[in-house]
Amino acid sequence: MNIAVIGQPISRVDGRAKVTGRATYAAEFSAPGQAHGVIVRSTVPKGRIGSIDSTKAEATPGVIAVLTHLNAPKLPYRPHKGFTDPDIGERLHVLQDDRINHQGQPIGLVIAETLEQAVHAANLVDVTYAAEPAIVDVGRVDPVRPTMQKTDQGERRSPETRRGDAQDALAAAEVRIDRTYVIPRENHNPIEMHATIAAWNGDQLTLWDKSQWVSNVAEEIASVFGIPAENVQVISPFVGGAFGSGLRTWPHVTLAALGAQVAGRPVKVMLSRREMYYGTGYRPHTVQRVALGAARDGRLTATIQDAYQETSAYEEYSEALTNATRFLHSCPNVYTRHRIAPMNVHTPTYMRAPGEVSNIFALESAMDELAAALEMDPVELRLRNEPERDEFKNLPFSSRSTRECYRAAAERFGWSRRTPEPGSMRDDRLLIGWGMATATYPMNFAPAAAMARLLPDGTAEVMSAASDMGPGTWTSMTQVAADALGLPMERVKFTLGDSRFPKTPPHGGSMTMASVGSAVQAACLKVRDEALARGGANDLAEAMQRVGQPLEASANVKPGGAGKRFSMHAFGAVFAEVAVDPDLGETRVRRIVGAYGAGRIVNPKTTRSQCIGGMIGGIGMALMEHAVVDPRNGRVPNGNLAEYAVPVHADAPPVMDVILVEEEDPHVNPLGVKGVGEIAMVGVAPAITNAIYHATGKRIRELPVTPDKLL
Ligand code: MOS
Repeated sequence: MNIAVIGQPISRVDGRAKVTGRATYAAEFSAPGQAHGVIVRSTVPKGRIGSIDSTKAEATPGVIAVLTHLNAPKLPYRPHKGFTDPDIGERLHVLQDDRINHQGQPIGLVIAETLEQAVHAANLVDVTYAAEPAIVDVGRVDPVRPTMQKTDQGERRSPETRRGDAQDALAAAEVRIDRTYVIPRENHNPIEMHATIAAWNGDQLTLWDKSQWVSNVAEEIASVFGIPAENVQVISPFVGGAFGSGLRTWPHVTLAALGAQVAGRPVKVMLSRREMYYGTGYRPHTVQRVALGAARDGRLTATIQDAYQETSAYEEYSEALTNATRFLHSCPNVYTRHRIAPMNVHTPTYMRAPGEVSNIFALESAMDELAAALEMDPVELRLRNEPERDEFKNLPFSSRSTRECYRAAAERFGWSRRTPEPGSMRDDRLLIGWGMATATYPMNFAPAAAMARLLPDGTAEVMSAASDMGPGTWTSMTQVAADALGLPMERVKFTLGDSRFPKTPPHGGSMTMASVGSAVQAACLKVRDEALARGGANDLAEAMQRVGQPLEASANVKPGGAGKRFSMHAFGAVFAEVAVDPDLGETRVRRIVGAYGAGRIVNPKTTRSQCIGGMIGGIGMALMEHAVVDPRNGRVPNGNLAEYAVPVHADAPPVMDVILVEEEDPHVNPLGVKGVGEIAMVGVAPAITNAIYHATGKRIRELPVTPDKLL
C-alpha cells in the first residue's frame, strides 16, 4: 500500500484550531496563580545606573516585588552557546550589575497581581543614570573588526576571500560599475508578541515560551540558572510568526524565570510591540560596496563586494553577507570582505534569509546596473554568467535549476514583451517597470531526532521537539510520517513544540524539512519495519493487531559527507512589475512571479504560502521597512506598527505566481528537499528596485524606496 501524500497540497492539520482560536500561543497559557511581570528599561544607551528607587512602585496596590540589580538574586550564567548565539561575546546578564549596554536594556522587573498594576508600578520606578557617550549611529562609525563567519556547512571562514585578482581585473574591465547599497535596520514584527510564562516546581522549571527552538531555550535557561537542562521543560506548540526572532533566548525569558523564583509563583512576561524594538533582534543595518567588471559580451571579469554591518558592543553577530557573491555568477576574479561595526545597541539577529537577502539585494542590483551599462537584457546577462560549478568551493552543485527558473518565470511573466528603455512602458499616467533578480539560499541540514509510536489500533503518534512558526511543520511532518508508515493522514498524529521530545536543530535557516523531516521519516520507517516483522504481516494494521501492544522507535539523522562533494543550494528567479506614480512618487507592486528549484516539494500548498509570504516580506523590505534609530540616543521613534510600515493586504499584489521547478536531488538529504522558507524572500527586493529603475530611470540604492526618494 503506497499512499502518495508527499507532494499533495494538503491543507493545514492545525488550520481549524488556529482559525477557531483553539490554538494556544505562549501568552495565552495560564499557570495557576500566575502573576504578571513588566520590564523597566533603560532610557539611555550607555553608562551606569546612578540610582534606582522602587519605593513608590512597591507601595502601589497589587505589587508583589520589584527586582533590580540591587536585590535580584545573582545568577551563575554558565557558558552556553547555541548554534544561533553569536560566536564572539557574551550575552546580556540581566539585573546583575549597574551597567547599561543599550537603549531599552532591562534594568528592573515589576511583578504584580494584574498586568495593569504592573504597568502602572513600572512607571513609578525612579532611575538616574551616569550616562556615557554612546555610538548608536552606524553612519558615524568605522567598521573596524573583520568578522568570522559560519558557512552553510557550519565551519568557520575568513571574513576576506579572494580568487584571482579582482582589483586588477576591475581596472582592466571594458565595462565597470562601482556602487554602494544601503539597507537600514529592519525590525522583527511578528504578529504574535514574544511572551514567556515561567513556573517553578521545586527545582523544576516549566516555560511556556514563543520559540523557534525549544531545546535551546531549555539549555540556555538551565545554564543561566546553573541547573541541569533536564530540569527545564519548554512548551511552545504554536508560534504566531517569528522569522528568526525566536531563535535565541532573549533576556525576557530569564526575567520571567527569575521573577517566578522570587515571587514564589508563576510569572507571565509579555513584551509590548514597542518593547520588541529593544530586545528580540533585528536585521542589521548594512552597507555594501559592489563593483563589477565585465567584457563587452557581458562576461564578468571582476567582482568585488566590501560589506559591513552593525552589531552590539557585547556580542559579535555576523551573518552570511558575502557568501552568495562567491558562487552565484561565474567570475574568475572575486574579492569579498565582511566587517562589523560594534555599537552601543542591542544585538541584531537572524531575520528571514539573514545575510543572503541583504547580499543579494546589493549583488543583483549591481548586476542590473551592469546590464544597463552593457545595454543587455538582465536575464541574458545572468545566462552568460551561469557557472558550471561552484567556483569558490571548487565543487559541483548537487543540483542547480537557475536556467529553468529564468525560463519558467520569464515565460509566465511575459518578459519578452519588455521594452528595455527606462520609462518606456506606461499605463496611462503611471510609469510601468519590469525587473528581475536571481535568488539563492543554502541547503541546510543539521542533526535531528524524532520518535514514532504505533498503537495496536493501527494509528500512530509521532513527535519531535520541532517548531512551527507558520510554514506548516505540523502538516508537512504528518505527511512525511504517513508516507513512511503507509498510513492515511488521519491515522497519524504528529506533535511538536516540547523540549521533552527528541531534539531538533533551530526551526530556521530553511532546515526544518530537511532535518526534522528526515528524522521523522527514519523513525517511521524503523517502527513500521519492526511492526511488520513482529506481526508477521504485510499490512501494518493487521501486523499491529497481532502485536497487540504499542511499538516505539526513535531515529537520529545527521548529514553524511555530501557537503564535501557538492555545493548544495536552492536557486530561483524573481520577476516583478511595478507602477510608479510620477506625481506622488508612490510605487505599487503589481505582479511578482518567482520560480524556485528547491528539491522535492512535500506540500505545494504550504510551500506556495511560504513563497507568497516571502514575496510580501520582500515588498516590505523594498518599499517600507526602516527602524529609524535616533542618532542621539539609540531610541527607535517609529517603534510601533503605525509608523514602522509593513505591507498590509492592500500592498500585496493581485498576482503572486509561484513556480516550483521540478528538481530531483539525491545528494542533499534523505528526503531530497532543500527548503524554501528563506529563498522565498531572497531576490524580491532587487527585482522590485530594478523594476523601479526600469519604470523611472532612477536607481535608488538605499532602501526602502519611499516616495520622497523618487520625487
Ligand atoms: Mo529564520 S531567520 O531562519 O527564522
